[in-house]
This record gives sequence, C-alpha cells and structure tokens, in this order.
Amino acid sequence: MSALAAEYNAINLGQGFPDFQMSEELTGLVNEAMKNGFNQYAPMPGWMPLREAIAEKAAFLYNTRVNPETDITITPGGTYAIYSAFTTILQPADEVIVFEPAYDSYIPNIEINGAKAVTINLIYPDYRIDWQAVKNAITKKTKAIIINSPHNPTGAVISEEDIHQLRKIVEGTNIFIISDEVYEHLIFDNIPHQSILRYPDLLERSFVCFSFGKTYNCTGWKLGYCIAPALLTKEFRKVHQFNCFSCHTPTQVALATFLKNKEAFLSLSSFIQEKRDYFKQLMRQTKFSMKESYGSYFICGTYERISNESDKDIAVRLTREAGVATIPVSAFYQNGKDDKVLRFCFSKKKETLDAAVERLLKI
Ligand SMILES: Cc1ncc(COP(=O)(O)O)c(C=O)c1O
Repeated sequence: MSALAAEYNAINLGQGFPDFQMSEELTGLVNEAMKNGFNQYAPMPGWMPLREAIAEKAAFLYNTRVNPETDITITPGGTYAIYSAFTTILQPADEVIVFEPAYDSYIPNIEINGAKAVTINLIYPDYRIDWQAVKNAITKKTKAIIINSPHNPTGAVISEEDIHQLRKIVEGTNIFIISDEVYEHLIFDNIPHQSILRYPDLLERSFVCFSFGKTYNCTGWKLGYCIAPALLTKEFRKVHQFNCFSCHTPTQVALATFLKNKEAFLSLSSFIQEKRDYFKQLMRQTKFSMKESYGSYFICGTYERISNESDKDIAVRLTREAGVATIPVSAFYQNGKDDKVLRFCFSKKKETLDAAVERLLKI
C-alpha cells in the first residue's frame, strides 16, 4: 500500500510511522555520541549503561527485577527480537499459537524455522482472545504462544483477566511466551499496560520484545531489545551473536542517557491519545464507522455505508481515487478473512489528518 500511495501521491495512513519530528534532545545526544567517538562495535548484548537504564525503567514501570548483565539484549528493532526468540526455541514440526489478525512477520518467522503457525481468530468485532479456542488448540507440539498488546492492527489491548487465562493455560507445561510489547507506551484512557514483566511466573518462560522506534517516534532507527530470563537469554544470544552481533553504537549511548528522562516515555500515551481522539472526531463526518482503539498507532473502521467491495478493493480504490492509503485488515490473516475493515494510522501531524479526512469526505 505504501508503494501504491507513492505512485498516486496519496496521503499514507497505511504504514505505521509518525510524520512529525522526533525529540531534538535525543538526536542531539546521538550527534554528541558520534562526535565523542562512540563509533565502533558495541558489546554483543548491548551497551551496558543502556541495559542498566532499561533494567531501572522495568523496575520503575512494572516493579520487576531484571538483571542487565544476563536478562537484556539490545537488538536491531522489535521484529528482529521476535525473530531471534522464535529461532532460539523452535525446531521443525513445533507449533506456535498465533492470534489473527497478526503483525505480518510472525508467521514467516515461524515457518522459516520449519515450525507451524496454528492460527486463532480474535473474536470479531472487538478482537478479544478466545481462550477456549486456545485451550482447544494446545497439543503436545505447542512450543509457544505469541501475544501482542497493544495490538497491531486493531488497537485492542489485553486485560488482567487475559493474563489470568494465559497463566492457567501455560501452568504445568513447557510452553514459551513471546510477548510483542513494542507499543507499551502507546496505550490510552489510563488503561495499565499488562506487560509480562509484571508477572514473574510468566516472565520465567517468556521473551518480551520492545522497540525504541515506537517509543521515541523514530521507527527508522530500528533499535529495540529483548528481556528474557538468564537461561533463555543465553540461548537467544547464540542466535544474535551470528546474525546482527552488535547494534548501532551512538544511538545506544544516546538512549542510555535519554531513557533516564521518564517524562519522555510517560508523556507519549497522552500525546498519541490526543491524535486518536482528533482523528476519530474528524472521521465522524465521513461515512466510515470507526471502532475503538485502546492503544498502538492504529484505529480500524468499517465502510458499509460506502460500498460492499472487499477491503482490498476499497483500499486500492481509496488510494487511487481519494488519494488516501490505508491497509485492508484481511492482509493480516493468512486466509484473507475479510470483515470489511480498514486500518488507519493516526500517528500523524494534525495537518496530515485534516487533509486525509477532507479527501475521504468526497467518497
Ligand atoms: C506489532 C508490531 N511488532 C513489531 C513491530 C516492529 O518494530 P521494529 O520497527 O522495532 O522492528 C511493529 C511495527 O510496525 C509492530 O506493529
């Protein structure tokens, strides 16, 4: 959709990236690190002061103790952390439970390891997890469950009750959890983020993956990290050692300082929530019916008052004819399940959202 958006000069509300400037203080810190000579390989697990700052942040936010020496690995982005976690644990014929709609890297990451994704649909229209279906899907081959909250593409979030259900299902098994928490700070309406880091009994079997790109409005930086218990981290690093090996040094040096500024990550929710509310309000004038979004960069909408087309057809038509790109949610299902829903990214400047909605009004 981004390629089509570029071809038709459309406003791109498809791909999830902010179109506003990131923190100048943070870019200044990267510049300073470069000028101060931090331009050679960082240690394989990551720049130690950054790992220490992450451990402090985890203690502050989730009241958990993670050891920077043994439990944290800096990675080139959240996606890489997820891929490495899968590669660490999967053997051919293993099964992984994946909830659909799903972020597009999960299933290819599972399959490239020779394992099988067992997909379970989130319950439409609220995109809640069907825990009975999860129970039914567990077999001797189930190696892991991957969860993602706040959720891309739907903006759904998991609750304490979901954690309770997850705990009941994995208790007494060897099932691993991969928790994609790249949107940990993009959660709205004062809902607490149910990080796996809060739950020591779950953390002991988990790889918890994060992204600085999402937290600091710099998706192009591709820097993130994985928190996992020492035994799992040791194995994870064997994959990392011969893949990326070591991440961009000056950004790690800069982030080690910037992470201490709590306000910078604590203020993100209200900043992005304002954009959600603004976009939702604007969309009331159009013929789209917007769903709830409790987190992430995204909000979904249906278009039954506009047409009966498939979500892919209307997404292509909106790009070509209205000049606004979105993503058809069917793209996040392996079987292309089409509930006639489009995903809109609202993490944009007001002018961008205004201009997009003005175009959508003509449809
Ligand atoms: C659910 C989810 N996980 C991971 C990522 C990727 O994070 P990163 O850019 O740090 O690899 C994204 C980006 O869109 C995402 O939506």
